[in-house]
Amino acid sequence: MFKGKKHDKKASNEPDIIEPMDAGKTQKVSLGQIQQSGIPENYVEIDRYPLTPPFAYAVITQNTENLEHLYVVDELPLTPKERKIYNDLKAVLEYDLKPAEENETPQESFRKQLPKIIAAHQDELPDLSGLEARKITYYATRDMLGLERIGPLMDDILIEDISCGGLNKPVYVWHKKYESMMANIRFETEEELDNFIVKLVHLSGKHISTTYPIVDATLPGKHRLSAMFRREVTPLGTSFTIRKFKEDPYTIIDLLNIGTINETIATYLWMLMDNKMSLMVLGSTGAGKTTALNAISGFIPASFKIFTVEEVAEINLPHENWVSSISRTGYGAQDEGAIGLFELLKAAVRHRPDYIVVGEVRGEEAYVLFQAVATGHGGLCTMHADQVEAGLKRLVQDPMNVPAASIPLMHCALVVKRVNTRTGPGSRSIVRRVTQMSEILGADAVKDISTWNPAKDEFEINISGSRLLKRIAESNGLTLDEVREEMERRKRVLRWMRAHNMRDYRKFSQTVAMYRKDPERVYRRAMKFTEIPGV
Ligand SMILES: Nc1ncnc2c1ncn2[C@@H]1O[C@H](COP(=O)(O)OP(=O)(O)OP(=O)(O)O)[C@@H](O)[C@H]1O
Ligand SMILES: [Mg+2]
Repeated sequence: MFKGKKHDKKASNEPDIIEPMDAGKTQKVSLGQIQQSGIPENYVEIDRYPLTPPFAYAVITQNTENLEHLYVVDELPLTPKERKIYNDLKAVLEYDLKPAEENETPQESFRKQLPKIIAAHQDELPDLSGLEARKITYYATRDMLGLERIGPLMDDILIEDISCGGLNKPVYVWHKKYESMMANIRFETEEELDNFIVKLVHLSGKHISTTYPIVDATLPGKHRLSAMFRREVTPLGTSFTIRKFKEDPYTIIDLLNIGTINETIATYLWMLMDNKMSLMVLGSTGAGKTTALNAISGFIPASFKIFTVEEVAEINLPHENWVSSISRTGYGAQDEGAIGLFELLKAAVRHRPDYIVVGEVRGEEAYVLFQAVATGHGGLCTMHADQVEAGLKRLVQDPMNVPAASIPLMHCALVVKRVNTRTGPGSRSIVRRVTQMSEILGADAVKDISTWNPAKDEFEINISGSRLLKRIAESNGLTLDEVREEMERRKRVLRWMRAHNMRDYRKFSQTVAMYRKDPERVYRRAMKFTEIPGV
């Protein structure tokens, strides 16, 4: 297809005739126009996969000189005839489309309404072949739902973040396999960039303007949007970052499969959550803190009441007894009506939850969280820090100001990092690992339970002398050996879950709940299964 080639990976539902695209063009186009992509000079295609076949493909290309990657969105272009019909249809849709009903997503509502609207305007729209109709529907869905040119990037499950640093700056993506790279999309006029962001923020039910130029919002589909408007605070013009939400969240089983943690770390965390102990997940931006926090929450017993406090809704739990709260920004110079994490946390305590989960602590809310933990609630949170020791220092300093004596109330902290590992002779790749997991003994004293060895890509575990396991033994009337035995049994259960791909977050929580109710039965089931090759 590019340079005269046809699509080589053909989807099963792809029609036989696919029109070839223009070769070798990287065309900058205005928003709303149909993009016609291609591989620029000095770039070669190294990977290609379908996004919405046969209409959109991701093409990963690489510069032959500096080896930089470029993400090319390869969309099947509309013919002049189709474009005319598409423009007519868009005009009709702008009038006829009704807002989504309460129980449906904008996508579901759009897909339901589109055929009816087309049927009602049959006379105005000429006859279309099956492929033409599907192609027009593809573009109409992409553009009418607001994501327009970045729509294909949102469809790519390998993309984690999408960001744009300003006017005429390329859109960048963070790709699971190829890491950070430019995409062949840029906004060339202030009008298109600003209108695009106003529309995105509006879709999130919020408002952005020169008076309120900084917005954090949740897009339909729960994607996290951070935007800065015009040149109020960003001299290069409107900028945005989208952190894509994973509808099907990572569970402990996924983290085990990926190698982010090992079985001992998993069972240790399971013991902690089962005994209402508190834990912090530390790491730098995009390290995987919220993901780990969410996965670990899967160990919280189903009977526990959970209260989550966040700035943007990211936590996704299967628990029935879960209250989710999100802070809100205020209006006017006085920030009137604002409800911050601090207020939400104070309110959370009154709901008497077993666990309070704070998406991210940064300020005075840390103090309230520690107060809550001191009064018998379990606490989970994330915080920016590269090491446990550095995280503890942050806690006792301004603006968190947690008293040093309260620090050990947070029982354990772990650090998750994006690290470079060797995947074979001469090849390396970026992966996530829990690089440190420590019990907190004091404001400047920790006991490492696990540290990650980068040379071997192995976790070095030192569970002997664990104070928390000793405490768990005491409070459950067990000996330390019995607690260790229990951990071995739980490892067996996790192994069995992995072997049967019980990774879905609901299934995972159900099994954990079942184990809490009837450990013997679940263990016997796990024991029936013997060994998994390679695990
Ligand atoms: N263990 C993991 N393995 C693979 N991908 C992961 C892992 N953890 C997180 N990710 C992916 O990395 C991206 C960032 O994850 P997450 O939002 O958890 O990071 P974060 O540290 O909370 O970021 P922030 O600092 O912006 O809050 C997401 O797209 C997520 O799916
Ligand atoms: Mg986060």
